[in-house]
Amino acid sequence: MARLVIVSNRVPDPAETSGPRAGGLAVGLAEALTSGTLWFGWSGKTAETTSMTANSVVHNGLTYATIDLGEADYKAYYLGFSNGTLWPIFHMMPGHAVFDRGDYVVYREVNQAFANALLPLLEPDDLIWIHDYQLLGVAAALRAAGVSNRIGFFLHIPFPAPALFEVLPPAKALLEAMLAHDIIGFQTSYDRAHFLGALSSILGLPANDGVVTYRNRQVSCVVTPIGIDADSFAQMATNIARRIDARRMIESLAGRALMIGVDRLDYTKGLPERFDAYRRFLQHYPEHRRQVSFLQIAAPSREEVERYRTLREELNHKTGSINGAYSDFDWVPLRYMTRTAPRSMVAGLYRIARIGLVTPLRDGMNLVAKEYIAAQNPADPGVLILSRFAGAASGMPEALLVNPFDVDGVAEAISLALTMPLDERQARYTALMARVREVSAAAYCREFTGWLAA
Ligand code: G6P
Repeated sequence: MARLVIVSNRVPDPAETSGPRAGGLAVGLAEALTSGTLWFGWSGKTAETTSMTANSVVHNGLTYATIDLGEADYKAYYLGFSNGTLWPIFHMMPGHAVFDRGDYVVYREVNQAFANALLPLLEPDDLIWIHDYQLLGVAAALRAAGVSNRIGFFLHIPFPAPALFEVLPPAKALLEAMLAHDIIGFQTSYDRAHFLGALSSILGLPANDGVVTYRNRQVSCVVTPIGIDADSFAQMATNIARRIDARRMIESLAGRALMIGVDRLDYTKGLPERFDAYRRFLQHYPEHRRQVSFLQIAAPSREEVERYRTLREELNHKTGSINGAYSDFDWVPLRYMTRTAPRSMVAGLYRIARIGLVTPLRDGMNLVAKEYIAAQNPADPGVLILSRFAGAASGMPEALLVNPFDVDGVAEAISLALTMPLDERQARYTALMARVREVSAAAYCREFTGWLAA
């Protein structure tokens, strides 16, 4: 069988690719992380200059090969073009985007550096699977160096509507670079339709059934949503919910319902809007006021990008204002934690929580939504409130779907979730759990690698 080569900007710590500490891409790719696989990418470290060759370690039969990024490249490629330009545009939030031609030049150079360091590690039959917006140009660089292997790409974040994608000055060059892949995978059919629309409006390329012919090469555009391993997550949630720290959490609730949100501290996650909706809920539904406690865990992220720092300040301010206005001697309405919590602990908290509040303004998929469902107790399940604009919404119609910009609508959904009868909660949970089981991490890997090997 051909070897799988995974290429992503971040490569996890080999010791944390399985078990309770694993998170991020390692969860979605668990099925593909079998003996022999090579995982290549950035070490997460900066150095004076970007490495020319990769440093390899073997762990449990998997090879992890990483390069360091030079300090200037880190700024222009990672903070600049990837997260200051592509991230907001792809999430259809152009107001947060900055564009600097110099950053784009470095983005291309770093993608070239990834390709250069990967080249000597490649074997003729390798199947290459590249991930996400940071690495749109690696395949084109590999092709230019003569690589004829099958190369696939999966976009974890949304693909924007064509009219927004065109806002990017190098829109045409980026699309051309993407067409160096054989397979391009998207989270939802909307993302794929947006991409095909951009190919048609910017490059004049027609797509028949998602297959595009470009420079005598056929590129298949497919929808392969990422998922989780629902049963092992359910098991983890059940085990942790029995532990002492989870019991302390339950005691601290004093019979109140827990509502939980868990996100990276990112403006796409809609946290200010979520806090406003909670405030509106406390205002408009005084009868529920002391019946609920909202715990928001927000893991700091990309703090060197200006907009992420201002977001943090904004949320500190809103937390103070909500708690100042509504707290009582024995009740704090909002508990807000800006740190990373272990995934296993979070699983236990999901199980305890009566409401999972997942309201991004825009999101590629959002695995918190799936994990929240997987963690529930079938005998007394909680309710998932989910943004219509998360990729997860297209596969989870039994959630309470909301428009995260509509604070009154989200406030109403919180009240509905709190009063939802057990039989309705169970019916929604049963349907959602079946979907989370079916559109799993294993199915994602099998489907994508199936396309790649075809
Ligand atoms: C999103 C992106 C990933 C990224 C992750 C964490 O999930 O799709 O590509 O790795 O956020 O962001 P960071 O910038 O810390 O890698």
